[in-house]
Amino acid sequence: MKNKSICLDFNHMMSEFIQEQGLTEKDIESLSDKVQQANQAMVMKRKNGYMDWRDLPYNQNETVEEIVNYIEEVKDKIDAFVVLGIGGSALGPIAVQQAINHPYYNELSKEKRNGYPKLYVIDNIDPERLPGLFDIIDLKTTLFNVITKSGSTSETMSQFMIVKQILEEEMGAEEAKKHIVCTTDKEKGNLIKIAKEEGYQTFIIPDGVGGRFSELTPVGLLPAAMCGIDIKELLAGAAYMDERCKEDNILKNPGHMYGLLQYLAMKKGKNISVMMPYADSLKYIADWYAQLWAESLGKKYDLQGNKVYVGQTPVKALGVTDQHSQVQLYAEGPFDKVIVFIGVDQYRDTVTIPTLYKEIPSLGFLGGNTQNQLIQTEQMATEYALMKAKKMNMTITLPKVDEFTIGQLLYFFEVATGFTGELMNINAFDQPGVEEGKNATYAMFGRPGYEKKKAELDARPKKQEKYMI
Ligand code: PA5
Repeated sequence: MKNKSICLDFNHMMSEFIQEQGLTEKDIESLSDKVQQANQAMVMKRKNGYMDWRDLPYNQNETVEEIVNYIEEVKDKIDAFVVLGIGGSALGPIAVQQAINHPYYNELSKEKRNGYPKLYVIDNIDPERLPGLFDIIDLKTTLFNVITKSGSTSETMSQFMIVKQILEEEMGAEEAKKHIVCTTDKEKGNLIKIAKEEGYQTFIIPDGVGGRFSELTPVGLLPAAMCGIDIKELLAGAAYMDERCKEDNILKNPGHMYGLLQYLAMKKGKNISVMMPYADSLKYIADWYAQLWAESLGKKYDLQGNKVYVGQTPVKALGVTDQHSQVQLYAEGPFDKVIVFIGVDQYRDTVTIPTLYKEIPSLGFLGGNTQNQLIQTEQMATEYALMKAKKMNMTITLPKVDEFTIGQLLYFFEVATGFTGELMNINAFDQPGVEEGKNATYAMFGRPGYEKKKAELDARPKKQEKYMI
């Protein structure tokens, strides 16, 4: 199995490579009690049902069967599958689709898509987005997947209302029903009630699994399988990583080690976490990670209620593209970042650079090599340059990008996030900081029950002309 394992290489986090900016083995050993406690907390929380996402690799079999059967039923009738969701209900589906499928999947013919529909994920309420979509799809051959764990998110529910009305106008209420499938909680929120009353096909998000940890539920499994992705392999990859992350010995536990390294890095003032995959296919894994890391670890209070204002700001980058954009800052700017590269051993294609312009030495040297060698060499060269500049960096390598390794990668980051939260002594599974903005929106939109908030907003300091130029 080793050759199917993803690998975490943290050499360049260590002082042997980046001297005083790095960590020592002593730094790691000195936290062994804390690590042990965090380990136990992870085990206990899992046992007591506070981390139900950890069991997803094992308990989704029935759901997988339901999904596969449903897809068999609808696949031939549809050309487009549109996800309406936001945050944890959108980023995973985008990341997994981009990772596994053809880079121009939607542009392929249906035959080349093996009969599966195109995928669109509408994760914003920009008023230009849905009308734009309606210009390019045929409603009669489109299936809309409304995904919301809470069943009440304004962004998603407003999209649902717009789509429902348009479908009903186009084809009548009875027919419209066949074009909507819901993914939500089994009882909480408005969507499940509506789905039951109006008779929509529905998939249930298991209890105890929060939005950003829900990719391995129908939230991610349905859109993935709808595009021909092998979701059993995705879950198998996650289960494989789960075994690795059960190790008590942190030196053998990649998820916990990643968390510990980031925790120690934060203690040394590295408050920015850059995620830089060297593969277009992994570009949106960085987006998914950004939400997971930011929402889980950016917290005002610790578990005892003390104000701590902690967190590491995630930054998304793409190798090699951002070598020509951000790497200057990473190399010569402040010592405030941990740069995480994600590399791939075996890309799914090989492209040879033609042997041209031999007479121009500064160009001819490229010929005869592959783009594969070039991208991997540039990655190594950037790792080297950052190491030389004493910038903390580490590398996660996937033997190749497929369902099994992506399952591992997702689960690895989830465990790392949970473990880092334990070390930081914060709750990694809530997001109180996003509530204020939501409540202010409700108040301004006149939602019943938000009158007090509206009064508070009305009393806020007025913006002044002199500061607007
Ligand atoms: O991680 C989270 O819980 C959030 O980012 C949610 O995923 C996001 O707010 C969308 O929520 P819901 O799925 O309830 O619509």
